[in-house]
Amino acid sequence: MSTYRKAARNKFNALLGRTGFQLVRPGERDAVRSFIPFRETLDGARKAGLSVGDYIDSKYHVPGTTQATVDQMAGFGVFQGKIDSICEIGPGSGRYLDIVQKMCAPHSYEIYETDPEWSNWLARTYHVIAREADGTSLRDTASGSMELVHAHKVFVYLPFVVTFQYFKEMVRVVRPGGQIVFDVVSDRCMNDETIEKWIACRTYSRCVIPRDLLISYFGQRGCALHASFLAPNLPGQSEYLIFVKDGT
Ligand SMILES: C[S@@+](CC[C@H](N)C(=O)[O-])C[C@H]1O[C@@H](n2cnc3c(N)ncnc32)[C@H](O)[C@@H]1O
Repeated sequence: MSTYRKAARNKFNALLGRTGFQLVRPGERDAVRSFIPFRETLDGARKAGLSVGDYIDSKYHVPGTTQATVDQMAGFGVFQGKIDSICEIGPGSGRYLDIVQKMCAPHSYEIYETDPEWSNWLARTYHVIAREADGTSLRDTASGSMELVHAHKVFVYLPFVVTFQYFKEMVRVVRPGGQIVFDVVSDRCMNDETIEKWIACRTYSRCVIPRDLLISYFGQRGCALHASFLAPNLPGQSEYLIFVKDGT
């Protein structure tokens, strides 16, 4: 899509934001999921005297989850070396972006966010590169160019095939020795109690992915599992997986 058409679409979608509708190209619809409302969230955070990240944590998640998750990543050595190029899928309000950017001070931070209001706001607020998000690919990012590719609370609810389209792209854009970090609802997160909670809360929008399948999918593409841990993802949990691509 030309820069002009992309800008026009983003502008139009920003205007449509409050209506809950979005302009998408044929084929994109299934891949795009709506996110928490932009303006209400910014206003709510301001009124509560909280950062946007802390406000979202306290309203929709377990307070402190964002920092605790980044701390876990750090504990497994994700931020040990210098990380100069980062790509994040679905950053939303930027609650992870905010912390990770401060920790790494990367030369380049790219985002693929389908919600145009949040995407434009993140680009303005954090000076990140907002790539055109077609909902399934990282097509404006060069192969083997990223030291860290990550996503949080995105693959817990995207359709299975879209998630694997992104996995394929994450493997493509990460450089040898680079890291891929994301969470999913794996079978390790599921048990009788969680199923009951999902039924009670009508949690229809979650996708469960078998852990072994994931590990073998990435393994066959030269990415070895380095570590994994569980994090809250109400009502229940998600599992974070940290993969490292072969080579240095
Ligand atoms: C549940 S939110 C999580 C946001 C953020 N990562 C966080 O943890 O606060 C999912 C995010 O992914 C975005 N999203 C939904 N479908 C997407 C897609 N196909 N490609 C990229 N981003 C998508 C949504 O707009 C939203 O910002």
